[in-house]
Amino acid sequence: MVDYRDLIYGNDQKVPTKFGLKPYLNLDNAASTPPFKDVMKLIANECLWYSSIHRGAGYKSKYLTERYEESRRAVTGFINADPNHDVVIFTKNTTDSINKVRHYLPYLPGELVVYTRLEHHSNELPWLNHQNICLELNNNTLDLEQLEKVLKRNHGNIKLLAVTGASNVTGYLPPIYILAEMAHAAGARILVDAAQLAPHRPIWVRPATDPRHLDFLVFSGHKMYAPFGAGVLVGPKWLFNQGDPSQVGGGTVKAVDSEGIYWAEPPEVEEAGSPNVLGALTIAESFKVLHKIGWNELFHHEQQLLEATLTGLKKIPGITVYNEATTQRVGVIGFNVKGIYHQTVGEALAEYGIGVRTGCFCARNYVKHLLNLSHLIYQGTNQRKLPGLVRVSFGCYNNLTDVTYFLDVLEELIKSADRLYG
Ligand code: ALA
Repeated sequence: MVDYRDLIYGNDQKVPTKFGLKPYLNLDNAASTPPFKDVMKLIANECLWYSSIHRGAGYKSKYLTERYEESRRAVTGFINADPNHDVVIFTKNTTDSINKVRHYLPYLPGELVVYTRLEHHSNELPWLNHQNICLELNNNTLDLEQLEKVLKRNHGNIKLLAVTGASNVTGYLPPIYILAEMAHAAGARILVDAAQLAPHRPIWVRPATDPRHLDFLVFSGHKMYAPFGAGVLVGPKWLFNQGDPSQVGGGTVKAVDSEGIYWAEPPEVEEAGSPNVLGALTIAESFKVLHKIGWNELFHHEQQLLEATLTGLKKIPGITVYNEATTQRVGVIGFNVKGIYHQTVGEALAEYGIGVRTGCFCARNYVKHLLNLSHLIYQGTNQRKLPGLVRVSFGCYNNLTDVTYFLDVLEELIKSADRLYG
C-alpha cells in the first residue's frame, strides 16, 4: 500500500497519551484535515510577497493579486466549471457559501427548496421551514422514487434541490449527477454540498447545457488539507448580479456616490473586504497535490482502509455500524458500542492517541433517524444525555497500520469494559 503520510505537515507530531508521548492517529478528517506540506511551503513562500490584493499599486500587491486570480482559474479547472457561465467565489467555508446561496434564492424561479434527511446543519438549517420539503430516506439511502414524486407534484415550484455530496455521518454518497438530471427535468436547480466529497472524489460541475450540470457547488479548504479559512462557492454568474450582495463593504462596488451604489461584478461583489488570499491559494495548491496523486489511487487507497475497518468492526462483538456498504460511500464510518456511551468511547480512544469525533456531527436530525429515535434527548445543558455515534473518518495519509491499531485498541477497550461492568 502506498503511504501518503509524508505529504502531511505535522505527521510526526506526538501527543500525550496514557503511555506518555505517542504519535497522534487522526481519524477525524471529516471534521478537519491537517495541511499538506506543499500547502505549508506555499504559505511560507507567498508570505514573502504578502500584501493587500486588488487594491495596492505596488509590485507585491500586483503579484499576489495575479496569484489569487490564478488560483481562481485553477479551482475552476479542477472542478471542470465553465468560466463563461459559472463563477468561483472564495468564501469563508461551506456554511458561508450556502448562506450566500440562500441570500439569492428570491431571484431563482419557483417557491420551494427540497433538502434531504442526510444533511448536516449547514445544508439543513438554511432550508428548515414548514414550507420546504425534506426528502426522507429509504433503507438509509435517498429514495429516488419518492424524489420523483415530489418533483412531479411540485413541478415548476421547486427552486432548488439541496443535497450533500457525501454524508459526514455515514459516508453515503448520493448519486449527485442523477439528482441533477432529475432536478433539471423538474425546472429546479441543484446545490451540492461537497464539504465531504471534495477531498475524496473528483467533481465535475459540467457545462450549464448538460443535464448533469451542478448549478451550485460548495466546499471548504479546511476539510481538504488547506485549513486557512477559505471555502468555495460556485454558481451561475448572472445570479450574483441580482439585487444587493449578501455582504457589503470594500471591493463590492464599482462606484458609489450620492446618486446610488453601482455593484461590482461577480466574483468581487460577493467577496466583501480584503480577500483571504492565502486561503484561496492553499485550496488551489491542495487540489494540485490531490490531482498529482491521482483520484483513482486515492479511491483505491481509501477503499482498502474502509474495507479493512468494516471487516474488523464486524468481528468485534457489540458494534453497530450505521452504513455497512462498501460501495457508494467514502471513508467515513459511524458506529456505536453496545452499552458504552459514544463520548466515553471517544475519550478512551484519545487516551491511546487516537482522535475521533463523537456525538451528532452537526447532523442531529440524520443521527436521530439513524438511531430510530422520536426525539433527541436534551436536558438543559447536560450534553452527556445527548445520544450520538462514534465516527472514524479517513484522510489520504491514513494507512492499514492505523486501522489495525484503532481496531486493536477498540477491541481491548470493549474487553476491559466487559471486565469492569460485564
Ligand atoms: N461537518 C463537520 C463534521 O462532520 C461539522 O465534523
